[in-house]
Formats: sequence, C-alpha cells, structure tokens
Amino acid sequence: DKGPYPYYMLKEIDEQPNVMRKLASLYTEESGKPNVDAELINAMKQADRLYIVGAGTSYHAGLVGKKLFEKLAHVPTEVHIASEFAYENPLLSKKPFFIFLSQSGETADSREVLVNVNAHNYESLTITNVENSTLFREATYTMLLHAGPEISVASTKAYTAQIGVEAILAKALGEAKEQTIAEEFDIRQQLGLVATGMQAIIDEKDTIDDLAKKYFVPANRAFYIGRGIDQTVSLESALKLKEISYVQAEGFASGELKHGTIALIEEGTPVIGIITQKRTANLTRSNLQETESRGAATFTIVRKGLAEKDDTLVIPDVNELITPLLSVVPAQLIAYFTSLNKGLDVDRPRNLAKSVTVE
Ligand code: M6R
Repeated sequence: DKGPYPYYMLKEIDEQPNVMRKLASLYTEESGKPNVDAELINAMKQADRLYIVGAGTSYHAGLVGKKLFEKLAHVPTEVHIASEFAYENPLLSKKPFFIFLSQSGETADSREVLVNVNAHNYESLTITNVENSTLFREATYTMLLHAGPEISVASTKAYTAQIGVEAILAKALGEAKEQTIAEEFDIRQQLGLVATGMQAIIDEKDTIDDLAKKYFVPANRAFYIGRGIDQTVSLESALKLKEISYVQAEGFASGELKHGTIALIEEGTPVIGIITQKRTANLTRSNLQETESRGAATFTIVRKGLAEKDDTLVIPDVNELITPLLSVVPAQLIAYFTSLNKGLDVDRPRNLAKSVTVE
C-alpha cells in the first residue's frame, strides 16, 4: 500500500533512513561490533579475491562494495556485470569467493553465474531483499537486506541497503583480518549519521523538485560526473534518470570527459558534479568548470565539509567510505521529480519489468 504517496518510488526513497537504522540494529551490536555469521566471515577470510556479481543498480552497489572491501579488509575485489561474467569465463584466482547482489534474488543473468559457481564448488554469498528467492536458496551463505518490499521498478532503498550491508561485512572481515582501518571504523555510529543525513536531504525535496522542473524536464541529455567512489554514484544517478524520465544520461569519470565526450555539451546541458572526497574535490570542480565554459548548466552534490558558497545541494558529513549512501539520494529525487513533472508513470517506466528473469 502506497498510503499517502503518489508513487511507490517516493515512499521507498523516504523509507531509507529507517532501513539504515534497521541494518544497524540487526547487523551490529550496541558496542559497535558487527553481528555477522562467523562461518561466513571465516570463509571470506580464506579467500584471496572477492568476485562481486550483479546487474543494473545491484552492479552499481557492487562497485561501491569493491572500494569498501579493498579499503577496510584489504582484499582484492572484482566487480562483474552478471550477463558478461556468465559467458566470458574470466580467469579466477586460486581461492575465489563470490558475492551476488540482487534485490529480487531472481535475476536470470546472475543466476546463470551462480549455477556455474556451484558447479565448481566455489563458496558464495547472496545479499538479497527476498528470502527464499532463487539466488538466496542456491548460495552457500545469505544475508538479507531487510528493506521491505521494493515495488517501484527503479531501485532505491535496495541500493542503499546493499551498500549498508557491504559496509558492515567489510568492517567484519577487516576486523577479522586485524586491519586497523576496519577496527577504527564505527559502522554503527556511521549508519546512524547516514539515517539522519538522509532525512535532512529528503526534507529538501521541494528544492530538488524546482531544480528538476527548471533544468531536467526540458533537457534531452544530462551528465553526472565524479571521481573514485563518486564516479560509481554517477553511474547509478544516471541510470535512475534514464530509466524513469527518459532523459539520456551518462555517468562519467570527471577527468575522462575532456577525452571526447565533452563534445556533447551544449548550451544548457545539465552536468552534475558529485563531490564527497577530499583528495579529488578540486579536480572535479575544475572538470565541471570545463563543461560550464562550453555552455553546460552545472550543479553540485557536495559533502558539507567540502562545500563552497555556490554549491547546489549540500549533503551532511559522513565517513568518506560510505558517502554514496547520501550522495545518491538527491539523484534519486532528481529522477523522481523529472519523471513526475513530465507526467510519466514513475513506478512503471516503459519497456521495463521489476525483475528480469530472462538472460
Ligand atoms: O533484482 P536485481 O537487483 O537483481 O535487479 C537487477 C537490475 O535489473 C535492477 O537493479 C535494475 O537495474 C533496476 N530497475 C534499476 O533501477
């Protein structure tokens, strides 16, 4: 039931702060220690490389997972698009461990990979929102997202829940491997900050609605740009916009734009810079500037600690490793309001199904 909401998507965006609190209470103890299956952590600890597999938004959550597992647990991590992995036969390490990300647990492309993984007797973990789904039943280990049903075709709370679970898992694995950075990372406290931060962004809906009306509804093309972890969020942000508002959007590594794609910038093309990482903030700012001088209408989604006077949307400060949990929220809302103001069916965009059960 959507209750007072015109569309499930808005309801699901609104539910994200509670999902973060729920993950903190289910998967961490009051002391801040992760509360994760010890056998799972032990199996992951034996692995020399993690292979994350997913499609669409789940693949994008995997890209964030790579950063988390590599930084907090110091384990090399590859992320694969399920439909590519299944037929490419990539070279595997000696002791691989597979992580499947899937909201529905029914994505055929991901399942095809899992069937192969099982045929080789490799161990796996499925992180999903749906208990007893196919990917849930067929993996060695499972973790649930506890996000509640996601009805809107555009995935929102599943993305943030997947990143939340990955962060908890990376912290647990990092601690098991005695990584100082993991020991010092207070995931329980951070998820609390994320929940409050998400709410603060959601409370700014009207500003985002205005922005969508003015700049995104008339656009036929848009860009999200960023570096590192912000680049991964730019991919997810662009997917959201394409999927429900039919604005052709690209997520881009901000430094790569000038190597060709900048030719697409015209008068008024919206370009949004995602800026949450201290090391690369100024670089992305100058890449934005390059597009502005070619006529782009530029905007920023900036972490508070890095904010400057003219920034468009300032998001609260959290640990730099988990900023996607906040930086994606304005992008979800931009997509939502662009679609809504164009009079489209936000929850059921054309040509798409909620879960893709064909390869
Ligand atoms: O259920 P899954 O997470 O496996 O689904 C994967 C993709 O089909 C899904 O994320 C899709 O990209 C969404 N519609 C994006 O909003």
